[in-house]
Amino acid sequence: MNSNKIQSITLRRGFFIPSSEIYGGLAGFFDYGHLGVMMKNKFIQCWREFFIKSVENIYEIETSIIQPREVFEASGHLKSFVDPITQCEKCKSIFRADHLIEDAINKFVEGLSPEELTKIIKDAGIKCPKCKGKLGDVRLFNLMFKTFVGPLGNKESYLRPETAQGIFVNFKRVLSATRAKLPFGIAQIGKSFRNEISPRHFIVRLRAFNQMEIEYFVHPEKLDECEYFKEVENVKLRILTREAQEKGGEEIVITAKEAVEKNLLPNKTFAYFLAKEMIFYQFLGIPFEALRFRHMLPEETPHYSKGNFDLEVKFDFGWKEVVGNAYRTDYDLKNHMKYSGKDLTVTLDDGSKVIPHVIEPSFGIERSIYAMLLYVLREDKKRGWDWLDLKPKIAPFLAGIFPLVTKDKLPEKAREVFNMLKGCYDVFYDDRGSIGKRYARADEIGTPVCITIDYQTLEDDTVTMRDRNTTKQVRVKISELKNRLWKVLQEGKLF
Ligand code: GAP
Repeated sequence: MNSNKIQSITLRRGFFIPSSEIYGGLAGFFDYGHLGVMMKNKFIQCWREFFIKSVENIYEIETSIIQPREVFEASGHLKSFVDPITQCEKCKSIFRADHLIEDAINKFVEGLSPEELTKIIKDAGIKCPKCKGKLGDVRLFNLMFKTFVGPLGNKESYLRPETAQGIFVNFKRVLSATRAKLPFGIAQIGKSFRNEISPRHFIVRLRAFNQMEIEYFVHPEKLDECEYFKEVENVKLRILTREAQEKGGEEIVITAKEAVEKNLLPNKTFAYFLAKEMIFYQFLGIPFEALRFRHMLPEETPHYSKGNFDLEVKFDFGWKEVVGNAYRTDYDLKNHMKYSGKDLTVTLDDGSKVIPHVIEPSFGIERSIYAMLLYVLREDKKRGWDWLDLKPKIAPFLAGIFPLVTKDKLPEKAREVFNMLKGCYDVFYDDRGSIGKRYARADEIGTPVCITIDYQTLEDDTVTMRDRNTTKQVRVKISELKNRLWKVLQEGKLF
């Protein structure tokens, strides 16, 4: 794993761009460049196929990024979406108090009150890491960005800190429009905003990031009746239990079925999503050993959840959550009913009403993409350059098209091939530099196939297809290219 290399490749090749860079940037904000947008869109498409299309009734919506204060009063975010901070009395730097203590004395203190954290800082003599100044009393800081809507600026509102609340407030409308029956899901993909105290690790902790969230609504007594569970019951999960965390133990490897039977996971619906995540992240190229589900300790479990299992990936700086899995129960719908006065129950076939329970897998796009990139980087001394072993369905381009030389009508022929393919696939044309340099540039951004037009092409209408992973080549007829590329997409490789 080489985070420096990934950062350097993705910045140089324009996957990511530090936001407002020419004005010095804005910490915690990154933009996507051309290759980044292409890869992100494909990543989302794969996720959609895997998590939404494989289930009969998950409906997608797209809701407003700005929501009024009332939404977050009801959801509890105004009161509880807070981090503890402390300020240096000398240099005025601000730190997240629990992280500061963990770094200084290696003690896990998440969830402790501001008074308890202040006492620990004083007792342990922890000073400002920047100037060794005295640290002030710990206080709570709300992570939501506040804004004021309207010309008079009198409508207090917030940038959403999760996409989920848009789903809950639209629940009744989606239910009546789709005529859905329990269990069913509502999914949303989009930007969320958190005024993180210390954004860090490239695109891991951002202040604006993308989430893909599913709120899966189930009859509260039928969480173990998940019809899709059978498909994944034998999938192996690595779980770090609360007990192991308290006693310094290790993860256990267990099938989804056993995890439910042994009450390690709350129910089959919850276990279904965990098993799917395990398959999905391995498909992306992250090995089993670098993935684990951590049962969050009670003190760090979000205010809305009856139990959280984070899917964590091993990064170079340690394990970090990429998906939050929460058993949100009826917390959100109940509170929105209470605060809005609207009926958010579901009427069952027998006429009775129920407030469904919610299982929520919440994926971070940037963290997942970064984790994937770290694990698909191939540092290849033999080849002489590094390359990305991205799945063809996720690589920005499926193929590069190159004339061997820029004369003798080869560029014209190569353009013909390019024009034939560009309506079907993401392909690019490149005639600059030696063929070796062009292969290197294509490999570096993970292009699975390079198609070269040479002198033989002019004679028999064949081209070479070069496989990114093996560098082996095969000669194929131009008329077969579309089919061969389709196979690469479906089978994941040329050979
Ligand atoms: N609706 C539940 C929710 O938002 P979360 O665990 O706070 O749960 C879900 O966030 C996912 O969103 C995380 O697993 C992570 O991948 C991503 N995420 C959260 N905060 C982030 C941040 N500051 N920067 C980048 N990604 C973040």
